[in-house]
Amino acid sequence: MCGIIGYVGSQQAVDVVMDGLRRLEYRGYDSAGVALVSSGELYAAKRAGKLANLDEALSQDPLPRATTGIGHTRWATHGAPNDVNAHPHTDSADRVAVIHNGIIENFAELRAGLEALGHDLLSETDTEIVAHLLGEALPQHGDDLAAAMRAVTSHLEGAFTLVAVATADPHTVVAARRSSPLVVGLGNGENFVASDVSAFIAHTRDALELGQDQVVEVTSDTVTITDFAGRPAEAVAYHVDWDASAAEKGGYQWFMLKEIDEQPRAIADTLLGRTSPDGRLQLDEVRLSEEELREVDKVIIIACGTAFYSGLVAKYAIEHWTRVPCEVELASEFRYRDPVLDRQTLVVAISQSGETMDTLMAIRYARAQNARVLAICNTNGSTIPRESDAVIYTRAGPEIAVASTKGFLSQIVACYLLGLYLAQVRGTKYGDEIATIMAQLQEVPAAVQRVLDGAEQVRALARDLADSPSVLFLGRHTGFPVALEGALKLKELAYLHAEGFAAGELKHGPIALVQEGLPVFVIVPPRGRDALHGKVVSNIQEVRARGARTIVLAEEGDPTVLAYADEVIRLPQVPTLMQPLVATVPLQVFACEVATVLGHDVDQPRNLAKSVTVE
Ligand code: F6R
Repeated sequence: MCGIIGYVGSQQAVDVVMDGLRRLEYRGYDSAGVALVSSGELYAAKRAGKLANLDEALSQDPLPRATTGIGHTRWATHGAPNDVNAHPHTDSADRVAVIHNGIIENFAELRAGLEALGHDLLSETDTEIVAHLLGEALPQHGDDLAAAMRAVTSHLEGAFTLVAVATADPHTVVAARRSSPLVVGLGNGENFVASDVSAFIAHTRDALELGQDQVVEVTSDTVTITDFAGRPAEAVAYHVDWDASAAEKGGYQWFMLKEIDEQPRAIADTLLGRTSPDGRLQLDEVRLSEEELREVDKVIIIACGTAFYSGLVAKYAIEHWTRVPCEVELASEFRYRDPVLDRQTLVVAISQSGETMDTLMAIRYARAQNARVLAICNTNGSTIPRESDAVIYTRAGPEIAVASTKGFLSQIVACYLLGLYLAQVRGTKYGDEIATIMAQLQEVPAAVQRVLDGAEQVRALARDLADSPSVLFLGRHTGFPVALEGALKLKELAYLHAEGFAAGELKHGPIALVQEGLPVFVIVPPRGRDALHGKVVSNIQEVRARGARTIVLAEEGDPTVLAYADEVIRLPQVPTLMQPLVATVPLQVFACEVATVLGHDVDQPRNLAKSVTVE
């Protein structure tokens, strides 16, 4: 969602800020802007559309030299994505410029109050009111921008990261945070604030994660943190262990392709160091005691989109291994259905970004109802793990493409680790059974690599099918969420009509969609699950008899599908519960290639944002 960077140092601020905005592009945006303070004046430029538009505006009308600046990529919430609504916003006297991520919920009331005082607001945004409020507050606080910011935050409801510069204080950037991400980058003679570390990773890897309701005042050599009341406060310091090159494309056409190829590594890293020398599973970051985990009588997984599908996969394993009932629920629906929660309920929130607002709100609701919350997350220090009782970090590394790939597979792996850990502490699996499953998981990276090595077949198929108006995906058991994920990838990247169905549901309605030539992907379970396997093979026959072009994903050596498949994509032989980890990969490759052939921006599909920080 919105990307934010602020800079104070000795370099040309516009260059640092524009470079930071380029690194934040992956968050998704529809306009961008910068503001600088130079010789007691404020200078700003902003444009709707991609950064190239802003670049062009800056080259036609360059901004003066400045060493303090802020920059923003906007994903529209209040008001259309146009030049006027783009950030930064300034007060009437052009003394303060502000950028913002989040939503100020009482903005209509604040706006009316400002207009009654004679303020002329130019945009439709909630952000502009903050600029005007700061403009009012500055003289009342002796031109101290941090004090003015603290005063203004007391009027705001909702979620926000705000970053401001003012002509009165030209060597300072001030930022405030409530329920929206903000990190400080600690450089040498220069400092940064940003929505995430990728914005300043080229300059420093030392960072501070701000806490809730904190204000930070940054100069080139000082960082001062207070709470909203002005009391000194502290932030968590950390060192970023990935470098700028990890966040770049590394020679691939798309970040998504790079991230698909990184999946064996992501799975292996997520499994790393999880077994103690005595062979027991250990999850260091799980801050819940074994006693607390033994008390759990229900697991509820909450997540959105692809992360939700990883939860659907995990349910099969968690119930099978622990015999604890496991529900999976869309985070955006969870708190509106009055769920039954108590201290024995373990709510598992899955989120790659750790900032998804629907999931954050759901965990806040769950904790208020006394449930214990465990986050499965890929982003260290993000809000969801920080607001949870416990966390298991996936170790997929930065996921830049909007469409989640390595995030998904590593989420399944982390859920499996949780399931096995629960089984260990509750005694529903013997130690040797857990060790066997861990050994099977350790084999998965090599199996995924084999799928990747054979991906050219899938790419050729994608080129062949790119003009299909519609594609269906069918699966049963863990193959069902894989089918849903295959369809989601195709929708979001190729903008094609695609649906995923539980294969058994076909005859209850969706089979009416099948017509001559319709491509239907079918995920066939390993032959180890005999009854299931036979039923899915029957489903292939049903759609083929009605003219579908069947593309069958089946394990190596399975001869039964050959008679009914127009195309067979072979999957390495793996146990049933591991199959989603290999079967999803060809579907990711397929969607990526179809989107590429159709000329779409694979890494930043239209209308989508990487980090969805509004409800
Ligand atoms: C689809 C996709 C989204 C995310 C969803 C949740 O490819 O990436 O559906 O999975 O927005 O995001 P996180 O995992 O960051 O909470």
